[in-house]
Amino acid sequence: MNKKIAVLPGDGIGPEIILQAVRVLKCIAQKFHHEFEFNYGLIGACAIDKTGVPYPVETHNLCLASDAILFGAIGDPKYDNDPSAKVRPEQGLLKMRKELGLFANIRPVEIYPSLMYRSPLKEEKIKDVNLVVVRELTGGIYFGEKGRSEDKLSAYDNCAYSVSEISRIAHVAFKIALGRKRHLTLVDKANVLETSRLWRETVSDIYSSYPEVDLDFLFVDNAAMQLVTNPSKFDVILTENMFGDILSDEASVLSGSIGLLPSGSFGEKSPLFEPIHGSYPQAAGKNIANPLAAILSAAMLLHDAFGAIKEAEIIKEACKSIIESGNLTEDLSDKKISCTTSETGDKIIEYILSR
Ligand code: IPM
Ligand code: MG
Repeated sequence: MNKKIAVLPGDGIGPEIILQAVRVLKCIAQKFHHEFEFNYGLIGACAIDKTGVPYPVETHNLCLASDAILFGAIGDPKYDNDPSAKVRPEQGLLKMRKELGLFANIRPVEIYPSLMYRSPLKEEKIKDVNLVVVRELTGGIYFGEKGRSEDKLSAYDNCAYSVSEISRIAHVAFKIALGRKRHLTLVDKANVLETSRLWRETVSDIYSSYPEVDLDFLFVDNAAMQLVTNPSKFDVILTENMFGDILSDEASVLSGSIGLLPSGSFGEKSPLFEPIHGSYPQAAGKNIANPLAAILSAAMLLHDAFGAIKEAEIIKEACKSIIESGNLTEDLSDKKISCTTSETGDKIIEYILSR
């Protein structure tokens, strides 16, 4: 196949981990005789530094002209502690999601047996965990009208959802459930919020088209609790933007490390793949960051955007084999000498070439 991939390394450790993911994709292209064209774009704090805006038009055009997007991470401490900053790196990510219509964010959580001891939960609680969070990504409080009163003594962030915004993501979630354990949980706050009541009504209506799926509802506070008391009860969690942001971070640590989880965002235009973790600025430039979530995001890209199932599978196998071998970056290593970012990439490539 012949495909164009937009590569947006972003900030912090983004460039280092994405470098390894691109090396792995090049290795796959060589082994399976594909042509992948990689074109690089700016986003986040590095884009602000160079162009004054966090999501330049050139980057948007590059994304539109690509078959898929591989993204690293966004964020820089110099903005985090400055609430008065007018331009922020995160605005670039939100603008990209909105302008590319990436309304469905898929965050699978998988457990690796050899890392179970690192989970904050007991092994018996997490050994059967296999869930996916389907988060609405372009609506709700993130994108509602926001502002300050004239006297600056109050502020507001409006949360709004339309039936069409809810139903398009609900269909995505039901379809994902059909390919899994056929259990969908809608997480909302329908005892308090009007938008949540519209979610329940809309999802209940759509449910009649998916009789094979079991649907249940949970209030978000209860869901947050059950994710730690009984996480294996979940299969597919469908939820709105803000609840999905919070619950997916909570779900991601069940596995013992956020450094292992990829994600994909889908919608009207090119799909985007990125690790769930952030820009980890303290580690930037040190060649110590864990590139596995970025490499697994590349596998997800091959699988979901290009239908390259064998290729994706071999990358996942390579990652599993490295995880089982215990030769890992310092966030996951118990050894005195841990593996570097680039050595992890080397090992994955070695594995792929040896198959
Ligand atoms: C995420 C992140 C973003 C979000 C931030 C960086 C704006 O936390 O992708 O989960 O809140 O959506
Ligand atoms: Mg988040």
